[in-house]
Amino acid sequence: MKKQIAKQQYALLLIPFFALLSQSASAANPAHGKDLHDANCQSCHASLMGGDPDKIYTRSDRRVTTLSGLKNQVTRCKTTVGVAWPDDQVQDVVEYLNTRFYKM
Ligand code: HEC
Repeated sequence: MKKQIAKQQYALLLIPFFALLSQSASAANPAHGKDLHDANCQSCHASLMGGDPDKIYTRSDRRVTTLSGLKNQVTRCKTTVGVAWPDDQVQDVVEYLNTRFYKM
């Protein structure tokens, strides 16, 4: 019982922290997108692509061919991962992937 109360208080402390995080990313920020991406998206792609996560973006038959398609795919995969990124964080990741791999 005591433990549960402590957990709830901890969660409450985190709310302003996340509010601050999402506010600080008002314009698309690819460096922030890289951090989000590397922390959440690499391991599954690595196991799909035989160990090299970048290959999913660089293979010759890659699926994404437009910027809106990229945003759709990031949104789909984000749901798979279960992270609750607001739109500006999705945009940061899109910006990172486009700058580094797709160049559309
Ligand atoms: C649980 C596994 C899994 C996780 C975690 C995951 N993905 Fe994916 N991702 C996939 C699969 C499966 C595909 C599609 C592969 C295919 O169709 O050949 C894919 C494809 C993609 C593509 C398109 C690649 C192409 O072919 O052009 C993008 C972009 C992408 N993922 C982004 C992300 C992002 C961003 C995250 C983190 C939020 C993420 N993924 C996390 C499974 C995952």
